[in-house]
Amino acid sequence: MPFKIPDVVTAGTLAHQEQPAIPAPGGLIIRPWSPDDAPAVYEAFQDPVLQHWHPREADSVDEARGWIDDWRKAWPEERDAHWAVADATTDEVVGRISLRHIMLGDGQAEVAYWTMPSARGRGIAPRALTALSDWAFDEAGFHRLELTHATANEASCRVALKSGFTPEGTKRSAALHADGWHDMHLHARIHGDGPHRATGS
Ligand SMILES: CC(C)(COP(=O)(O)OP(=O)(O)OC[C@H]1O[C@@H](n2cnc3c(N)ncnc32)[C@H](O)[C@@H]1OP(=O)(O)O)[C@@H](O)C(=O)NCCC(=O)NCCS
Repeated sequence: MPFKIPDVVTAGTLAHQEQPAIPAPGGLIIRPWSPDDAPAVYEAFQDPVLQHWHPREADSVDEARGWIDDWRKAWPEERDAHWAVADATTDEVVGRISLRHIMLGDGQAEVAYWTMPSARGRGIAPRALTALSDWAFDEAGFHRLELTHATANEASCRVALKSGFTPEGTKRSAALHADGWHDMHLHARIHGDGPHRATGS
């Protein structure tokens, strides 16, 4: 018996196109990762703040290059999609943004991001998140994007709010970090939520 409800995003929608580069306001470009970005990824993971909120550690540039290899392979498999956020003029990596846990049939995915310590406080994460979300809704056909952050991670909560991700509640003791279990705020942006623009410096 066929399913009554068609897939929201048809399988192959991502795999049948090149992973796009997406411009974001304020001279940013969201582009696929390159093996040459490995030193920047390694540098980002030496930051204690990033280490606090991230489950992985990078012990060497080679290890970071291996992650980039996995990130590049994820696109045609339509399970996750990973982009570098770069300065559109110099191509310098200023952050990372991803769609994770992609469920094309349900039209849903989860967003994740970090920025280089030297690039923080300039609205880079909200601008990248808004541009990627617009692409996911308007070009790829997603319906709902979720975002979770530890309730103690106030900077990430600000990114969510500034990017039009509405708070939906707290998932108790939902993520294990190096320092123990954390309550997680759930935010989401739905296709058709009011117009949203994170503008930047
Ligand atoms: C959370 C994070 C992605 C924000 O990126 P960003 O590009 O600095 O985003 P914004 O410039 O919009 O700043 C967000 C908030 O960070 C704080 N902030 C501002 N300047 C900052 C600085 N120089 N350094 C650190 N935090 C700063 C402020 O609270 C700001 O909110 P406000 O604009 O309402 O004042 C970044 O801090 C980061 O990578 N943190 C470590 C990894 C992480 O937490 N990832 C998210 C996991 S859910």
